[in-house]
Amino acid sequence: MKQPYPYEHAPRLAAQGDIPVCSLSEQQQGDLEIEIGPGRGAFLLERVRERPDARLIGLEIRWKWATLVDERLHKLGLGPHARVYAEDARLLLPRLQPDASVAAFFIHFPDPWWKSRQRKRLVVGKPLLDQMARLLRPSGMLFVQTDVTERGEVYETLIDAHEAFAQDGDQPGSARISACPWSARGNREKRAEQDGIPVVRLRYRRKG
Ligand SMILES: C[S@@+](CC[C@H](N)C(=O)[O-])C[C@H]1O[C@@H](n2cnc3c(N)ncnc32)[C@H](O)[C@@H]1O
Repeated sequence: MKQPYPYEHAPRLAAQGDIPVCSLSEQQQGDLEIEIGPGRGAFLLERVRERPDARLIGLEIRWKWATLVDERLHKLGLGPHARVYAEDARLLLPRLQPDASVAAFFIHFPDPWWKSRQRKRLVVGKPLLDQMARLLRPSGMLFVQTDVTERGEVYETLIDAHEAFAQDGDQPGSARISACPWSARGNREKRAEQDGIPVVRLRYRRKG
């Protein structure tokens, strides 16, 4: 007999129409930060403690991880200001309103797809950048990191060429930063650190 899907109750947002960012969390005050693809949620769970004043939202395409991390946040009493929704960021961002309402986007180790037939799954691309540019407030931050050097170079070329973003790296005219600026670490980042795998870290600011 077919078993029922255990994550049928995954936290979802309305299937259609605009989504006001104020409906994403119970807490209404504080900077709104969005993590795309939090996976098992290590970064988000640590970041919540670093920024108790902020609202943190994860958008995770895998229902299992969205459900488990969101439940964890509730159990820890952090649900009012941090949630993870089982949503595809590429479809969800265009529906978020209003413009200039997000303080930061984090994208840690995205796009674990290498085959050309999987190219349609890639999350970091011009359409997503356009939406993040629309949603970020002036000087808002976009942070992307990856342990796949060639992917990092592709992201850097793509974002450098986008008219809405200014590089905010260690050196003027570059988005690269050598060390992670936060104490919060994602699962993949911890593994890269343990294994000594170099990480490409890129930080940009929304032009005013
Ligand atoms: C390699 S994992 C990295 C997970 C986590 N960020 C970390 O650093 O450990 C990439 C994550 O992005 C999620 N993902 C991929 N495409 C997505 C999309 N379009 N919208 C939301 N999440 C996505 C995957 O399900 C996966 O959890």
